Amino acid sequence: MKFNAREVLLKNNRSVIIRTARTSDAENLLNTARLYIADSEYIPKLAEEIKLTIEQEEEWINSYSENEDSLLLVAEYQGQIIGNIDLTSNRRKIMAHTAVIGMGILKEWRNTGLGTAMLTSIIEWAKQNKTLELIWLEVYTENTLGVSLYKKMGFKENGVVKGFFKQDGRYYDKLTMTLNVKGDK
Ligand SMILES: CC(C)(COP(=O)(O)OP(=O)(O)OC[C@H]1O[C@@H](n2cnc3c(N)ncnc32)[C@H](O)[C@@H]1OP(=O)(O)O)[C@@H](O)C(=O)NCCC(=O)NCCS
Repeated sequence: MKFNAREVLLKNNRSVIIRTARTSDAENLLNTARLYIADSEYIPKLAEEIKLTIEQEEEWINSYSENEDSLLLVAEYQGQIIGNIDLTSNRRKIMAHTAVIGMGILKEWRNTGLGTAMLTSIIEWAKQNKTLELIWLEVYTENTLGVSLYKKMGFKENGVVKGFFKQDGRYYDKLTMTLNVKGDK
């Protein structure tokens, strides 16, 4: 199902476009992800672990256009990609009604309402999708900005795994959050 690009005015008075990612975004998207991963304590990936080539990033982007129950969106400001969100459905039949969310935003664009706008876009799209029922995500319990945003969007807390992340000898807990886009069961 197609996503119609939208323009959103953020709290910093800048207008950004949220649209489906294109193959030609590969290099920009990869660079943006490298930057926001390096600048975030709450994405469980080290910058040096991003080893994708531009060709592999192109394949990753294309995999979303080939799967009608998944969606990859980017936020663009004056031609620069400043964040992205993906909703990735499960390929197994028994879990085909579920999809997981991943997202990230460049540091200077956080807390501007962009996360809210990207999540709203994904949720509205998932509501229209015929297959999807349950969308979910995982977040560091300490990521208070993230957790409060997800709660505001209607996500429910659905279990903590203690000590799931370990970095520099310190343990962090992981919270799973879920949203039933076709209404609560
Ligand atoms: C998490 C992330 C995607 C959220 O996007 P964002 O654009 O910063 O979020 P928004 O500005 O739309 O919303 C943040 C909300 O949290 C609130 N908030 C900010 N700091 C907060 C804090 N310390 N405690 C509680 N709430 C907080 C804001 O007021 C805002 O709520 P409001 O719109 O009702 O005023 C973004 O900050 C990000 O990329 N962070 C780094 C990577 C990351 O954590 N990714 C998610 C992994 S699950």
